[in-house]
Amino acid sequence: MELRHLRYFVAVADEKNITRAAERLNIAQPPLSRQIQQLEEELGVVLIEKGSRPLRLTEAGRFFHAHAQELLDKAQDLKAMTRRVGKIERKLSIGFVASTLYGLLPEIVRRFRDRYQTVEISFHELTTIDQLKALKEGTIDVGFGRLKGEDAAIRRIVLREEPLIVALPVGHRLTQQPGPLRMSELMDDPLIVYPKTPRPSFADQVLATFRERMLVPRQVIEVRELQIAIGLVGAGQGIAIVPDSLQGMIRTDVVYRPIDDRQAVSPIIFSARAMDRSQELADMLAIIYEIYEERHIAYVPEAL
Ligand code: BEZ
Repeated sequence: MELRHLRYFVAVADEKNITRAAERLNIAQPPLSRQIQQLEEELGVVLIEKGSRPLRLTEAGRFFHAHAQELLDKAQDLKAMTRRVGKIERKLSIGFVASTLYGLLPEIVRRFRDRYQTVEISFHELTTIDQLKALKEGTIDVGFGRLKGEDAAIRRIVLREEPLIVALPVGHRLTQQPGPLRMSELMDDPLIVYPKTPRPSFADQVLATFRERMLVPRQVIEVRELQIAIGLVGAGQGIAIVPDSLQGMIRTDVVYRPIDDRQAVSPIIFSARAMDRSQELADMLAIIYEIYEERHIAYVPEAL
């Protein structure tokens, strides 16, 4: 059995259709069917139920699918890591969700640059889900995102649970109220959430925060990105729930207020390829925890 067989089988299982799988793999359909047949013969088990449309996996097929995907991810990881080890120059490519840029990310990178001047750093703004893909493809080496999730090919560390705050248009009645706001006080205004796609996203995290408290916002407006959400708040179209670090985005038409609920948080998650134990990643993590300590920011102790 070769990696090619795993790749072919995973494509067929994902697409549930031989024609679409062949297109995805850029090969003709008859050789693809032959390879799947060979694989079943070699394993001595049926992986795909005969005659099913769309194609359905047998129990053995489902088992094989899950593990084949894991092996393919590991092979990809191995390729990216070996290339990296073989390169003389030191590089670190960082994926980040926009909100982290208004928080500690610039300071972390400044400190890293000062300390490790020979490492070439590049940046890619990516949603958490796109970061996972970019890590597997080797486009980025580390991602800073906000969605929790399981993926055997990715090492994920929850750095901290960042408080959520509310962004209100200047002059809004709630800006006059002293003290933190309760979530139940935020029901009357349209709620602007981002990003619209891909899902799940930070938008779902915010909507879940309301749902968990049995609260239903009057109207939800989904927008493409953070800057648009804040711009619309400034224009008086509604309110937005955002991470605390957004206070770094200073606008004269938006007022930020804390929320009176310790559970209203959004995690900041470090993601890297599971096998990647490079010095650059260790140095970056050390700087992050150093800054948390200096600023007395509550963080989740690294669970390694
Ligand atoms: C933070 O705000 O905790 C953070 C932001 C970006 C990268 C790492 C940590």
